[in-house]
Amino acid sequence: MADRLKDKVAIVVGAGSSGPGWGNGKCTAVTFAREGARVMCVDRHRAAAEETVALIEKEGGQAFGFAADASKNADVKAMVDACLAKWGRVDILDNNVGIGSTGGPVELSEEEWHLVFDVNVKSFYLTAKHVLPVMEKQGKGTIINVSSIASIRSPKGVAYVAYNASKGAVNGLTLAIASQYAEKGIRCNAILPGLMHTPMIDFLAEQYAKHEKDHNQAYDKMIAIRNRASPTGKMGTGWDTANAALFLASDEAAYVNGHLLVVDGGITVRA
Ligand SMILES: NC(=O)c1ccc[n+]([C@@H]2O[C@H](COP(=O)([O-])OP(=O)(O)OC[C@H]3O[C@@H](n4cnc5c(N)ncnc54)[C@H](O)[C@@H]3O)[C@@H](O)[C@H]2O)c1
Repeated sequence: MADRLKDKVAIVVGAGSSGPGWGNGKCTAVTFAREGARVMCVDRHRAAAEETVALIEKEGGQAFGFAADASKNADVKAMVDACLAKWGRVDILDNNVGIGSTGGPVELSEEEWHLVFDVNVKSFYLTAKHVLPVMEKQGKGTIINVSSIASIRSPKGVAYVAYNASKGAVNGLTLAIASQYAEKGIRCNAILPGLMHTPMIDFLAEQYAKHEKDHNQAYDKMIAIRNRASPTGKMGTGWDTANAALFLASDEAAYVNGHLLVVDGGITVRA
């Protein structure tokens, strides 16, 4: 099926990737463009946003890049203003920014806790704050928040307390917006990816391996653990997240609102 997002304008926040390869946001921006959307690619790193724009344009799609820190109110307002100035509307908001952080309550510093909540939760509140009035005027629109299965599960192993808590907050934010804005023609859903092999995971594996004696072996070990932990024997990819986002963004999901869509190869049904 093609043109599932024909004539729609999408903002993907966190449209780059934190390293070489395909992250959830980069795959989502490219997938939206392949289905006919014009895509504003936003990232805190201009080069990361522009890389995704170049990928879209190379395939004949329409996109433009914008540098913004999504946890800053002024940046988010400027982002929405820029989208309206360029294309005059916002049909789809895909909130994809997120950072990981290891440690339980005892090990984690207060600064790190605030940083994770600013990036993972406040940014989603701010983008909604500035996009919802636009969607309300249009009489329609859809928001997709990228959460995580870490919002509903915390397996034994590495502690990620701030990450778990922040993604739980993303789910609550999603349900609250879905309920408040349903009668205004606006839908809000979340995607809960499981273990995906994205640049963020390579970065965390590198961080973990840095402290180990045999760096390469430690890196491979962490990747192998994640592959083994998946019922399919392999982590998912950014394309799995993107395809879920495509469904939620499209009119096929017109009656899907306030849903927390797990995309995890079945890991949560086992745990
Ligand atoms: N990879 C996984 O296994 C996994 C699992 C569940 C959920 N997720 C979620 O998916 C989302 C994307 O993850 P990814 O693995 O593709 O990561 P990624 O780090 O490759 O991509 C995230 C992008 O967001 C940008 N970003 C970070 N903070 C920002 C900010 N304050 N303002 C603007 N841009 C910012 C980064 O520069 C990066 O380009 C995150 O919300 C993450 O929590 C990932």
